[in-house]
Amino acid sequence: MLHSVPVNDLESVIAADKAHVWHHLMQHKALEVSDPRVMVEGKGMRLWDATGREYLDAVSGGVWTVNVGYGRESIANAVRDQLVKLNYFSQSAGSIPGARFAQRLIEKMPGMSRVYYVNSGSEANEKVFKMVRQIAHKKYGGTKHKILYRERDYHGSTITTISAGGQPERNLHYGPYTPGFVAVPHCLEYRAQWDVEDYGERAADAIEEVILREGPETVGALCLEPVTAGGGVIVPPEGYWPRVQEICRKYDILLHIDEVVCGIGRTGKWFGYQYYGIEPDFVTMAKGLASGYAAIAAMVTTERVFEMFKDDDTDPLNYFRDISTFGGCTAGPVAALENMRIIEDEGLLENTTAMGARLMVNLRALMARHEVIGEVRGLGLFCGAELVTDRKTKEPVPEPKVQAVVADCMAQGVVIGATNRSLPGFNNTLCLSPALIATAEEIDRITEAIDGALGRVFG
Ligand SMILES: Cc1ncc(COP(=O)(O)O)c(C=O)c1O
Repeated sequence: MLHSVPVNDLESVIAADKAHVWHHLMQHKALEVSDPRVMVEGKGMRLWDATGREYLDAVSGGVWTVNVGYGRESIANAVRDQLVKLNYFSQSAGSIPGARFAQRLIEKMPGMSRVYYVNSGSEANEKVFKMVRQIAHKKYGGTKHKILYRERDYHGSTITTISAGGQPERNLHYGPYTPGFVAVPHCLEYRAQWDVEDYGERAADAIEEVILREGPETVGALCLEPVTAGGGVIVPPEGYWPRVQEICRKYDILLHIDEVVCGIGRTGKWFGYQYYGIEPDFVTMAKGLASGYAAIAAMVTTERVFEMFKDDDTDPLNYFRDISTFGGCTAGPVAALENMRIIEDEGLLENTTAMGARLMVNLRALMARHEVIGEVRGLGLFCGAELVTDRKTKEPVPEPKVQAVVADCMAQGVVIGATNRSLPGFNNTLCLSPALIATAEEIDRITEAIDGALGRVFG
C-alpha cells in the first residue's frame, strides 16, 4: 500500500486547502504559519496522512463515527452496486435498501416501528422537535410544546438543536435561540449538585421539579443522550433511568433518546438505552449508522406516534409535512445494511463489551499512577478520563494542558479526543471511542500513549 502522496501533489493539495477550505471547529490563524493535516487512507483502526505518517485512531474518525473501522470493501462494493442501479429518488417513494434496512433496524429495537431517513444527527433531532410541536397542536391546542433538554448534552449544530443544547460555550453568540426549550440539571455524580445517597433518583427528580415549575401541561417532550458524549462522557447513575421513564409517563411527556453517538454498538448493545429497560417514543441515530461510509441518519418512532399523524385523512394538514432531500439517497441504507451485517457476523457487540472492559481496567490503572485523573467513566468502547489539578477540590485542569495531552498522543501516532468548547472551564475530559473492532493490543497501545503523555505534560 502506498500511503504517502507524491510531494508535488501534496503541495498543491495543501495550497488548495489553505486557500479555500474552511475546516470545522477550527480557529484558522494557526494555519497561516503551519499546514493542515490531510488524512488520505485508512485500514481497520489505522490511518495515514498525506506525508505517509501512520496513526492509531482511538476516536473512530475524530467524532465517534467509524464503528466498523476503515477500508471496508464490502460496504464500498454494496454502495457502488446500488448507485449504478439507482442512486436516488425522493423518500416520498420507497426504495429497496430503505425498506430492507428499516426492517433490520426495527428487529433490533423492540417496541419501535417506523424509520424516517435524513442525513445528519442534527436533522434527525429536528424532526422529533417538529413532530412534538405538531402533536402539541393536534392534541393539546398548542400548549404542550416545550421540550426539555439536559445540561451538558448536545443534540446538533443548527440554531434549534443548539437551543436544545446544554453546552453554553458551544452556543454562545449564536442567539437568539429558538423558544420553547428548557434545561434540566445534568446527572454527573462526580460533580454532585445534591448530597444524597440515591444520586440517580435525585437527579431524575430534578427533572420533575422543572416540569412542575414550567407546568406539566406545557411540556411535550424530554430529550436526553443515554450516555452524554461531548459533554464529558457521563454514564447516568443507577436509579436515574427508571425514574426518568416514570416521570415521563406520569406527565404524559414523550421521551426522545438521542443515540447519535451511542447507537449501533458503541456501548456494546445496539443502543445505549437498551441497558436501562427504557421504552422511548423517539430514537435518533447517525454517526455509526453507516460508520461514515455514507451520510445517513434516522429518526425512529413507535406505531403509536405514527398513528397520530394519520388519524384524520380528511384534513389536508394532518400528516407530517416534512421532507429531507438526501433522506432519499440509497447509498445510506445500503451502507447501513452492510455495516449492520459486519457488526453481527464479526461479533462486534461482544468485542465492544470485552474491549471496553479492558479499556476501563487500563484507565483505572492509569488513575492509580496519575493523580491528575480525577475520574474515569464509560460504557463499552466509549470512555472518558476527567483531568483535575487536585482530587479533593476537583479543580479542572486548564484546557491548554488537556490539549497538550492530546497533542502528545498525536505525536506518538495515537489519535485521542477531548471535550472542547462545551462548558466554560470544564473542557477537561479525555475522550476515547475506538472502532468496535479494536484488539487487546490496540487498546493497550492507546492507554500506553496516554500514560506517556500524562507523564510528560504533568511531570
Ligand atoms: C449526541 C449527538 N447528537 C447529535 C449530534 C449532531 O449530529 P450531526 O453532526 O450529524 O448533525 C451529535 C454530533 O456530534 C451528537 O454527539
